[in-house]
Amino acid sequence: MSRADDAPVIEVRDLTVRFPSLDGTEEVRAVDGVSFEIRPGETFGVIGESGSGKSTVGRTLVGLLDPTSGSLTFDGADRAGMSRGDWRVARRRFQMIFQDPNAALNPRMTILDSLTEPMRIAGGRSKAEMRDTALTALEKVGLRRDMAQRYPHELSGGQKQRVNIARVLPLDPRLIVCDEVVAALDVSIRGEILNLFKELQDSLGVAYAFIAHDISVVAQISDRIAVTYLGQFVELGPTEGVIDAPLHPYTIALLSAEPQPLPAHLRHRRRMVLEGDIPSPVNPPSGCRFHTRCPWATEICSTQAPEWREVRPDHRVACHHTTPDGPPPLPADGAVPAT
Ligand SMILES: Nc1ncnc2c1ncn2[C@@H]1O[C@H](COP(=O)(O)OP(=O)(O)O)[C@@H](O)[C@H]1O
Ligand SMILES: [Mg+2]
Repeated sequence: MSRADDAPVIEVRDLTVRFPSLDGTEEVRAVDGVSFEIRPGETFGVIGESGSGKSTVGRTLVGLLDPTSGSLTFDGADRAGMSRGDWRVARRRFQMIFQDPNAALNPRMTILDSLTEPMRIAGGRSKAEMRDTALTALEKVGLRRDMAQRYPHELSGGQKQRVNIARVLPLDPRLIVCDEVVAALDVSIRGEILNLFKELQDSLGVAYAFIAHDISVVAQISDRIAVTYLGQFVELGPTEGVIDAPLHPYTIALLSAEPQPLPAHLRHRRRMVLEGDIPSPVNPPSGCRFHTRCPWATEICSTQAPEWREVRPDHRVACHHTTPDGPPPLPADGAVPAT
């Protein structure tokens, strides 16, 4: 478990990432003003509907994407101030695992070659050393050493995902961004892979950014959870607080929509049906981006962006109307609550 006063593994301030729209005339605001830090050894969960910018945040955390604006501090070193060489070394310790178990595995390479590839790129180790390290990594992820001679097509999805984890271990990662890493796996083996992530964290002290649209997965593994909506964080707090007593109407909506029953202690009483489609990140709504779908919305919500407030200890929210106990009860007649 992490302590709040530990220096962060990564610190993100006012991050924005924009892409040109398909016809090139407009901008997609994929991430729009997000600030947070990930603490050593913690699991930082990120949830939100598809298109809310989760993967874009994740890719920025490992340097696969450059921010349009904002700052990133890796282990205390500002990215903007790093030389090309320093950055090459620093970013090795910030790794990413993807949803598709085949994404990082070359079908024509043996598992051993896939495992040693990141070490070859990093340099500084003999062939024998790389082989030994790779075989040890295989054992750490619960696979037998003789798997090393096989090819990806001979492995199950779960085994391939284990190999993908083993691949990054020799780089002594500080942070692993896990983007929907169990989404493509059979439901029956998701639990074992999540347990493997937990075990490795206990023994290695690595931090995770755990991104998933599946709330029950994120709730199972995360210390804190960030809730994304249209490129922004609307809520960020300890897992129990976010799941048991959510502060933001959007979080309540997400939890209500959860198809798989959450464990009893993670269930909460409020129900809310999310109506309408997620608006376009090219032209996000003014004020609070959620106001077009929010039953609590009043005048101010469409004109003024809510502040990012800490309303409970270590628990932040961007909502004009919520209180430390969550949004006020809605009147039964559907009348708009007072501002
Ligand atoms: N390379 C890209 N070029 C253009 N638009 C992109 C690109 N990557 C993501 N987007 C857009 O940015 C928004 C956020 O995408 P993404 O980060 O993948 O969301 P999520 O992972 O939450 O589903 C979406 O509207 C998506 O279409
Ligand atoms: Mg994604």
